[in-house]
Amino acid sequence: MEDNFKEVSYSATTVSELMIPAYANFGGKIHGGIILSLMDKVAYACASKHASNYCVTVSVENVEFIDPIEVGEMVTLYASVNYVGTSSMVVRIKVIAENFLIGTVKHTNTSYFTMVAKDANGKPTKVPGLILETKEEVKRFLEAIKRKELRTSYKKAMQDVRISLLVEPEDKMLENERCILRL
Ligand SMILES: CC(C)(COP(=O)(O)OP(=O)(O)OC[C@H]1O[C@@H](n2cnc3c(N)ncnc32)[C@H](O)[C@@H]1OP(=O)(O)O)[C@@H](O)C(=O)NCCC(=O)NCCS
Repeated sequence: MEDNFKEVSYSATTVSELMIPAYANFGGKIHGGIILSLMDKVAYACASKHASNYCVTVSVENVEFIDPIEVGEMVTLYASVNYVGTSSMVVRIKVIAENFLIGTVKHTNTSYFTMVAKDANGKPTKVPGLILETKEEVKRFLEAIKRKELRTSYKKAMQDVRISLLVEPEDKMLENERCILRL
């Protein structure tokens, strides 16, 4: 049996950043892109620590901002490796925003970054396995397997849909949609 395994806790990473006015959009809330950039950085830190290697972001799942983040709030990102394949790792990132003035803590989103470790020649390289120490860690590992399966079947279904869709002016699917065809 291979001996290169690491605990989830070994690479678990937490990053906090105060939301300054320069991060705001025209509506005065924090730009979604600022949060995505922080998430990408923490995913890299977590994955590269687990892999002891350079890593790249391959895909991002479940980015859905539940609540807006305000200027002055402290955003904290909790990242941990939930699953490893051969060269890939799924890093779960939970984002919370804390408002010290009114004493609130809100959960803004939980997303999943797939990261791949690369060797010095830019080729995907094997990462250590995971030591799962809690039932929650086992559950998250299993969920990642399920998400992978669902992603594969979704991709396949969308390919079939794309092939089967014919663009016809009388298309029933467009009947109640807010579009005008000018072909
Ligand atoms: C992702 C990438 C490494 C795949 O390279 P590849 O030569 O096709 O290698 P493989 O097919 O062996 O895939 C490597 C791993 O990535 C995983 N992978 C590839 N595409 C994926 C996707 N869309 N979603 C999730 N995982 C994916 C594979 O399942 C595999 O995982 P495993 O080793 O754990 O089984 C390559 O396409 C790449 O470098 N992409 C650019 C990444 C990047 O630069 N990101 C920053 C963007 S600015």
